[in-house]
Order: sequence, then structure tokens, then C-alpha cells
Amino acid sequence: MIVGGCDIGSTTGKAVIMKDGEIIASTIIPSTTKPEETARMAMDEALKQADLSSIDDLDYIVGTGYGRLKVQFAKENISEISCHARGAHWMSPTVRTVVDIGGQDCKVMSISDEGKVVEFVMNDRCAAGTGRFFEGMARVLHCGLDGISSLENQGAEPSTITSQCSVFAESEVVTLINEGSDLKNIIAGINNSVSGRLNSMVRKVGLVEDVALTGGCAKNAGLAKALEKHLKVSVKQLPHDPQIAGAVGAALIAVEKAAG
Ligand SMILES: Nc1ncnc2c1ncn2[C@@H]1O[C@H](COP(=O)(O)OP(=O)(O)OP(=O)(O)O)[C@@H](O)[C@H]1O
Ligand SMILES: [Mg+2]
Repeated sequence: MIVGGCDIGSTTGKAVIMKDGEIIASTIIPSTTKPEETARMAMDEALKQADLSSIDDLDYIVGTGYGRLKVQFAKENISEISCHARGAHWMSPTVRTVVDIGGQDCKVMSISDEGKVVEFVMNDRCAAGTGRFFEGMARVLHCGLDGISSLENQGAEPSTITSQCSVFAESEVVTLINEGSDLKNIIAGINNSVSGRLNSMVRKVGLVEDVALTGGCAKNAGLAKALEKHLKVSVKQLPHDPQIAGAVGAALIAVEKAAG
């Protein structure tokens, strides 16, 4: 059976094609202003990668993410909360807590042995603690996302960033730069402030190991390290790209739907 999962987020579009339980293609592209086009482009690229000639070669497709209603070729759409949970659980079956940090929101889910969502909390009210927050900070610091993520750049004495609002937090960072604070300590301070927020969200659903990060910000190694300090447990490294977890989950749900 060949199935597809398409996760149209606020920042990127992801498509995954799975054949007999294995990923045979996956793509990540920047979101456009037309979610239906983002979906089509991400899936077309995945079809090419999988050496398939048409979308009709797929037995079932599930759409997810912010733009899931605009995935016109999907037979069904499912919330990204369920999809990230399923995807993370498939990647690493011992995971019981999933922290999805995307471009525009972050969510924490506690999941069952089967990868079903038991409870979740979500922050979609402001950019603080999301990809957009890190992108703003990378711009102010002229260091790129890699600069914020790199383990070498995590200073030993994280600067204190108190503001919960990303706009004010950016002003705080500008002040720290102008006061001559060590850039590595500022970077550590940024990851520290986000992980403090994530820690509170994890505590709300209840911390059960293993904990895994999904979404694009899961690739921020500095954030993962700071979160480990707050949670006082290790973060499980997923064996696949964590950014495609939602699309993988959608493809796994497609298998079930196709089977009826
Ligand atoms: N290599 C990387 N290192 C650090 N951060 C990264 C990296 N690659 C992507 N990101 C971050 O991931 C974010 C996008 O993540 P993702 O694709 O999960 O978002 P999305 O699903 O579109 O958003 P949402 O779920 O909020 O709608 C970007 O904003 C960027 O900050
Ligand atoms: Mg997302």
C-alpha cells in the first residue's frame, strides 16, 4: 500500500509518501500565500522523489496542519496534534510526551502506548517560544538559526530574558547587545527562556518519559539542551527528521483509513 501525508503549516509545507510502512519520500518547502499551492508543490516534489508519475498512484492521502482544509487532493484531514503524536510514536515507540515547536505555535501532547493523544496544551496566542521568535532573535544577533542552535554557542551563564512577549524580548536582547553582554550567554538566555516556557507546558500535561521534540525547532540543539536542564530528563533523539513528524503521522493514519 502506498499512502501520503501532507502537513501544511504556517511556515513550511511537508509531504511524506510511505510504502508498506517505510518512508520512500519526504519534502519540506517554504509555505506560500496559497496553502493549496504549497500542498501541491510539496506533494509533487515527493512524488518525483518516489519515482511515481501521478497522485493517483497513492491509495490514500491525509492532510494536516493549519492549511489542512486546503489540501485538495487529501481524502481526509486530521488535526496536527494527533498527527505529530502518531508520527513521533512511530519514529520512537517509547515516546510518551511530544513537544511540537513549529513556526507559529507550540504544543505539548501526552500520548498513550499506541500513540494516541491523551492530553495536550497549546500556545498559539503569540510568537514567543516558536520558530518566529527564534528567527527574530537570529536577525537581531546576525547569527542565523544555526548560530542559535549550535551547542558551541550556548554560553555557560545564560543572560536573563524576562519578557514573555517576543517583541519586548527582542528589545531586551538589543539592550543586552548594547551593554556588551557575551553573545553566547545571550544565545543561551534565549534558549533558556523558551525552554522555561515549554517546561511549564510539559508540567501541565504531566511529564512522562520518553520526551521527544518535533517540528522545525526540534533541530535547535541548544534548545533541546536547555529543555533537558529544565525537565531534568533527557530528550529522546528521533531517528528521522523531526520536522516531518506531522506528515508521517498523517500518512500512518492514511494507512488505517485506506484499510477501512
Ligand atoms: N535547522 C534548524 N535549526 C533551528 N530551527 C529550525 C531549523 N530548521 C527549521 N527551523 C525552525 O522551524 C520552523 C518551522 O517549523 P515547522 O516546519 O515545524 O513549522 P510549521 O509546521 O510550518 O508551523 P506551525 O506548526 O506553527 O504551523 C522555522 O520557523 C524555523 O525557525
Ligand atoms: Mg506544524
